[in-house]
Amino acid sequence: MNTLKISAFLLLACLIVSCSSTEKEMKETNIYATDTHSYAMPNEAVAKHLMLAIDVNFDKKIITGTATYTIESTNATEIVFDAKNLKIHKTTVDGKEVEFTLGTNDVVLGQPLSIPIKGNSKKVAIHYETTDKTEALQFLNPQQTADKTHPFLLTQGQAILTRTWIPIQDSPQLRLTYSAKVKVPKDLLAIMSAENPKAKSDDGHYNFEMKQPISPYLIALAVGDLVYKEISPRTGVYAEKSMIDKVHYEFGDMEKMVNAAESLYGAYAWDQFDVVVVPPSFPFGGMENPRLTFATPTVIAGDRSLTSLVAHELAHSWSGNLVTNATWDDFWLNEGFTVYFEMRIMEALYGKEYANMLASIGRQDLAEEIENFKDSPEATHLKLDLKGKNPDDGMNSIAYDKGYLFLRTLEEKVGREKMDVFLKEYFNKHAFSTMTTEKFVTYLHTELLAKNNVEFNTDIWIYKAGIPENASKIVSDKFQNVENAIIEWQNGTLNEADLCKKNWNIQQKIHFIRNIPKDISIEKFTALDNACNFSNATNSYIAMVWFEQSINHDYHANNVDAQIENFLMTVGRRWYVSTLYKAFKRNDKLEEAKRIYDKARSNYHSVTVNTIDEMLGVSY
Ligand code: BES
Ligand code: ZN
Repeated sequence: MNTLKISAFLLLACLIVSCSSTEKEMKETNIYATDTHSYAMPNEAVAKHLMLAIDVNFDKKIITGTATYTIESTNATEIVFDAKNLKIHKTTVDGKEVEFTLGTNDVVLGQPLSIPIKGNSKKVAIHYETTDKTEALQFLNPQQTADKTHPFLLTQGQAILTRTWIPIQDSPQLRLTYSAKVKVPKDLLAIMSAENPKAKSDDGHYNFEMKQPISPYLIALAVGDLVYKEISPRTGVYAEKSMIDKVHYEFGDMEKMVNAAESLYGAYAWDQFDVVVVPPSFPFGGMENPRLTFATPTVIAGDRSLTSLVAHELAHSWSGNLVTNATWDDFWLNEGFTVYFEMRIMEALYGKEYANMLASIGRQDLAEEIENFKDSPEATHLKLDLKGKNPDDGMNSIAYDKGYLFLRTLEEKVGREKMDVFLKEYFNKHAFSTMTTEKFVTYLHTELLAKNNVEFNTDIWIYKAGIPENASKIVSDKFQNVENAIIEWQNGTLNEADLCKKNWNIQQKIHFIRNIPKDISIEKFTALDNACNFSNATNSYIAMVWFEQSINHDYHANNVDAQIENFLMTVGRRWYVSTLYKAFKRNDKLEEAKRIYDKARSNYHSVTVNTIDEMLGVSY
């Protein structure tokens, strides 16, 4: 706003005294980066607060209502929002109806929605409803929930889907505060990425407030027959009744995680940290919606073995939600920092060895991803150029695991103490603001490298392909044991029964299964399953990697085919299902993949559908 005022002043000055450099100066005072994934022109007019008033209609599977924005502008004559597959009924400016314009539709970006304003316009209201093409919303029938008694609604905003359920200036750099009035059927609870109710209201009306400015992709809503159970005064879980106790146990370390995170990088800025476990069709493991992380039920393993996911989403409360990637080209600033932070939280709670195993799995994923991109090496840059592409295309293991490796290597170079001082100050100084890669590089150089007289190949890491030669080496003795066991098993000195008796933790089991030799005989593979019963694993991660190997090894015993099909019918987590469909495809079993997908597709969220449609080359 200050900058807007300065721009207005410069313009006024230009009218009074003719000044040739004014235009240039005005450009230099523009505060927002160019975001090729949003039509908004925030340097002209920008929304600062959203008041949402909506009604969730489960019969029609739509949301209807009004988004009213408090805006700031210079001398702009219009304000531009992003809208995709929305029906816009009417727009008003300070209470007076005005004629809006919807521009041409782009399959990825949607449409620009332009509303005429004057210099002193304050409130812009958009009356709208969603359509059956909304990509953010997933309306689930009772059968798709845990309790099977009530319907459920969930939203997913990242990366550019918020515009499919709210007309909004949908760029991550455009933070805004919001309040919401949400009306739902009265037997359901509504919760948002905001201050939340802990129990149902009598009449299905709920009011929300998010007082801190957040990015549009972090606006989220879940509606279902949910209950709340506290873990500590500031942490707790929402889940359906039949799951709440299991979920409460699974995430029992949440307060400890928040404490560990705060000791590392400063106070938790969002007061409350709750997690809602949503139905299994949710396309992600977790989503860091502020104050209310969304999590897949596939991490409820019964033994707290998959809770690094919570550490990850919690870490986003700093890297992502507090300091936010300015554009999706800078996505690694969100995810790479978060993986680094996640590992530090896991190390603080469960030790270095454990965190190192997690890191080592990520390192293998990275090697695989780099191999996948061997024909488009620029996709392995940290800083991306996603212009003209769907930002989803950039959301792969490069941002996560190469981003992590960069920070880990940097930490090794400067020492942990200096690294932590630097990161704490980075979050503190840039809290509630956004970051471009270029701004980060400058900040890194002055505040860490130059200050400590350290040379580091930052530009190569960020702007070049592949993994630089100075990358940190991740070694784990516990993984070495697993690798030795595989060799012994392969050469016959270790039998399957003894293998299964090994007291391995989850990471070791995953490492083992993922590294089963390609050429192992089907007899040995079958004997392994007979002894360890992997085909009936209750841990979703173990099941998933075992199913992948079963497909690779053309293995069909122990009912594994039915198990795979059942898994793909119920779970919609993109990472899991895409791993399995990819395995079918790679192994010339495309027909089998299509047969299952044809039945399962309607259970998946649009995010997963888009990925798998493309992967299998189908259109519906
Ligand atoms: N913010 C991401 C999920 C996401 C990324 C949604 C890109 C839309 C676009 C979230 O924090 C995440 O990374 N989830 C991971 C979990 C994790 C432990 C790496 C997932 O869903 O698997
Ligand atoms: Zn993440």
